[in-house]
Amino acid sequence: MIVLPRKEFYGEYTVPGDKSITHRAVMLNGIAEGEALVTNALLGEDCLSTVSCMRALGAEIEIGKGALRIRGARLHDADCYCGNSGTTMRLLMGLAAGQGVGVRLTGDASLSGRPMERVAKPLRLLGADILTTDGKAPVTVRPAKLSGREVDTASASAQVKSALLLAALGADGETFVHESVKTRDHTERMLVAMGADIRVLGNTVRVKKSALHAADIEVPCDISGAAYFMAMGALLGETLCKNVGVNGTRTGILTVFDRMGVRYGLENEHMVCGEPVADIRVKKSPLRAIRLCREDMPSLIDELPLIAVLCAYAEGESVITGAEELRVKESDRIRTTAAMISDVGGEILPRDDGFIIRGQKSLAGGRVDPCGDHRIAMSAAVALAASERGGEIEAAACVNISFPGFFEMLG
Ligand code: S3P
Repeated sequence: MIVLPRKEFYGEYTVPGDKSITHRAVMLNGIAEGEALVTNALLGEDCLSTVSCMRALGAEIEIGKGALRIRGARLHDADCYCGNSGTTMRLLMGLAAGQGVGVRLTGDASLSGRPMERVAKPLRLLGADILTTDGKAPVTVRPAKLSGREVDTASASAQVKSALLLAALGADGETFVHESVKTRDHTERMLVAMGADIRVLGNTVRVKKSALHAADIEVPCDISGAAYFMAMGALLGETLCKNVGVNGTRTGILTVFDRMGVRYGLENEHMVCGEPVADIRVKKSPLRAIRLCREDMPSLIDELPLIAVLCAYAEGESVITGAEELRVKESDRIRTTAAMISDVGGEILPRDDGFIIRGQKSLAGGRVDPCGDHRIAMSAAVALAASERGGEIEAAACVNISFPGFFEMLG
């Protein structure tokens, strides 16, 4: 994919639906009583992996134009191929354990290299019978009786927390899930909307055994997808991203904007299906270097490759620490982000748990290999569009994992 350099960038954008919320809407309605319509669903490859797994497990799902009609079912045993999607595999481990079904979960080469014991271990504390392969996929979940208890999520991960909450739906008694730093809470909000017996007390969630009723869901646009167009506005002109989910557990990018001196505003703020939504207007601004640490990570983890691009164009030296989670994403994002920034002409020093980035007024551009990672490809597109000469992105179709139509929208 060739990315031309831009002198300016202005426009209004409606990016696809939120990936995390679409996965959850499919899984939860897939076990609920009744039929639901999920509109503005993200039909990217990751969410389609969740759709095909839930179909294999027994849910009836029709795919329309940006919408899914789902009829929930009592799940049965199945083999489930999760593609590239960590959220599909990890949440299904909890869902299958809670529903008492046997599943064998496999994935592509990238997913088969990612850690699964972080989910299996706490699920076993509830009584789940789970086998991993040297800590990774293939993962086998065998039917077992679960009992509620108190569990800590050792890693600050919404996927681990959500797997436990989904398992808790089928565990006898009460389950308390504690996390040290609050992570995205879409599962909790959706469980409330679907009638689960759930209470959130600070960083602890209590769930009692519950049956769910189907709920129609309008999915907000994904802030992780909008972020690329917000960054284009900050670097090159002005953008307005419409109907973006602005759940506080996801808006770390806005905190980064505050600290970097990016001018932005939220307009038309309202609630949709229990999630806050707004239009986000971002204007070209001189950028300052920032420091980010471990506590900042959960609300901006998926935006770090893009934040590295902004730092490469900021005045001063940015330091990002406490981000070792990046090593186990769709690629080793410390390595692939550092390679991407260097390939476009930036100065970056990768460290075990983050980066040091020395900002420059302009970058030359160049050729980037995203190593199959959608977020590296889209971050590279922003870096190249703002560069002097632009450049090329190899095998750029990986953007379809989370953002089909990304390059067409970029124009
Ligand atoms: C997600 C949680 C995050 C995030 C991923 C989606 C989710 O992963 O990086 O893209 O939908 O729960 P972790 O839970 O591993 O931090």
